[in-house]
Amino acid sequence: MNSEKVSTGDYLEAPINYLERSSEKPVIYLYEPPPGVPGRSGRTATHWVKIRNGRPFHDKLALDREGFTFVRHRSQVVNFYEPEEVRRVYYPEVERLLKEILGAVRVHVFDHNVRCRLMAKRGEKGAREPVKFAHNDYTLKSGPQRVRDLLPDEAERLLAHRFAEINVWRPIRGPVEESPLAVCDATSMSLQDFIATDLRYRDRTGEVYSVTFNPAHRWFYFPQMQADEVLLLKCYDSAEDGRARFTAHTAIDDPTTSPQAAPRESIEVRSLVFFEVK
Ligand code: OGA
Ligand code: FE
Repeated sequence: MNSEKVSTGDYLEAPINYLERSSEKPVIYLYEPPPGVPGRSGRTATHWVKIRNGRPFHDKLALDREGFTFVRHRSQVVNFYEPEEVRRVYYPEVERLLKEILGAVRVHVFDHNVRCRLMAKRGEKGAREPVKFAHNDYTLKSGPQRVRDLLPDEAERLLAHRFAEINVWRPIRGPVEESPLAVCDATSMSLQDFIATDLRYRDRTGEVYSVTFNPAHRWFYFPQMQADEVLLLKCYDSAEDGRARFTAHTAIDDPTTSPQAAPRESIEVRSLVFFEVK
């Protein structure tokens, strides 16, 4: 299907879950928290916002400006629920895609998640639920920490040059109707909107940004995404020259979606992207 031919409205209005600003550092548990401790601390502030259809702008979006782009990309993967096949076939495809689009000299793909509300509920195929909370995957602190954790022997040399962290998000099955992903134009965000939040795993604590509401935010989504369409999100950039460094994103409940719509199935792949060193 041609991305220009999808006939949908210019925008929709949907609730987005933000974090309410407070004095304590918020914590999110990725495992069953200790008894009496909520899975997510801090108060959620839900705001109805306008979410624009990004399709008419798809060729004008720049990772370095808006923080996200939308491209066509075919994959040879047969079964995205098979982690071995994803690592063997999809990771190298993502590496090639990012080198081509970003002109990067080195790409290190290191992680992926598959998401589907129903499969997550049934405990099937390692699927997780869509995330209905505005966030960005790394912070000023955890961005470089990821490089140290994943490439310890080379980290100091690599960190001397510009690097970025990019998520490649795609539907496993199209079109996506339920819980599409919304992304916020990085030029509409200020650094104060990002709140460092502990992400507790059993064996380590990471740090992500929760996002607080700001009426300036300009949200986009891509209606009816197909399995040969991908969204690239820049979740970290070490550059401090005005380009996009973080990109808020969240799954949304589209109020126009039929309750019978098939649950969204998607995969996101995380990668470190280096621009100057081989
Ligand atoms: C991501 C992400 C949430 C979702 O790709 O980093 O937060 O619902 N995804 O797909
Ligand atoms: Fe994310």
